[in-house]
Amino acid sequence: MGRLLENARAFVTGGGISVGRACVERFVQEGAQVAFLDIHAGRTQAVIDATGALGYVADIADREAVFAAVNDAAAKMGGLTVLVNVASVMEGGRVVDTSEAQLDRMFAVNVKGYYWATQAAVPHMLSAGKGSIVQFGSVAATHPGWGESYGVVKASQLALAYQCAMEYAPAIRSNAVICGWIQDSPSSRLLQTIPEVIGPIMADHPMHRGASSEELANVCLFLASDLASAINGETVVADGGQTRTQGNLNALMQQMGPLFAGNPELLARNLRNLAAVTPDELMKP
Ligand SMILES: NC(=O)c1ccc[n+]([C@@H]2O[C@H](COP(=O)([O-])OP(=O)(O)OC[C@H]3O[C@@H](n4cnc5c(N)ncnc54)[C@H](O)[C@@H]3O)[C@@H](O)[C@H]2O)c1
Repeated sequence: MGRLLENARAFVTGGGISVGRACVERFVQEGAQVAFLDIHAGRTQAVIDATGALGYVADIADREAVFAAVNDAAAKMGGLTVLVNVASVMEGGRVVDTSEAQLDRMFAVNVKGYYWATQAAVPHMLSAGKGSIVQFGSVAATHPGWGESYGVVKASQLALAYQCAMEYAPAIRSNAVICGWIQDSPSSRLLQTIPEVIGPIMADHPMHRGASSEELANVCLFLASDLASAINGETVVADGGQTRTQGNLNALMQQMGPLFAGNPELLARNLRNLAAVTPDELMKP
């Protein structure tokens, strides 16, 4: 078998790190021309240097900037046949605790941002007569999770995948991937430094581990390629079976409450870690 994405021209959002970066790397290895955007300038440059892909520093919430990047990439690559949306933010917490500003930002990035990139990419795919869209999501969309308000916006990404599957087939296939814990993402890696938190979660996880970015990029690669030519309007659950045993991850996290209450040092460490993954921290170039 030759390379899986020979002749493909792909655009990845959130390509600066973790799953997005792994998609850029895998797609280049499989013969695609690849462009990506990320809000983080330093990460963007690092991926350009490592892969030779076309990189754009842009906020996916900025419709004009997204259209400019996608159109420029399509002009330079001679079209566009694959879109993978990964760029997301997680803010807020329980429904009653989430502020309007947090909800607005999550909608701007996770709902509207995915929408803008899709709107920008579809006309190029229709011109090419072929396309594959992958909306990268979270099991928080289908199972009550740790970030409750985040699940609301991640669920919209599945609806967008299904809608495009109806509107643009047969030329374009449109699917979603949802995952559980990502081992090497900055946002989850920090929490894994607290054994009291990660231990009980992984003990009850069928694989006893999260997925790596590369494993998840391989799922996106499959859906982007012709190997998935019969798959349209589907969600691939790439969580290692986590939602089979942990259908309500939030309930598991609730059990951590007494642990934190009786252990101020652990609580302080946890808060420090969570603070370290706020968008401001993550966005430092
Ligand atoms: N981390 C997890 O354990 C986990 C679990 C389930 C699902 N997910 C999903 O997996 C994907 C990757 O998650 P992650 O935690 O590794 O993400 P992340 O927070 O590391 O961000 C991924 C990339 O997107 C970029 N980005 C963030 N906001 C952006 C914006 N407004 N415009 C452009 N780029 C932006 C970041 O700079 C980063 O390089 C996301 O779609 C997330 O919802 C993550």
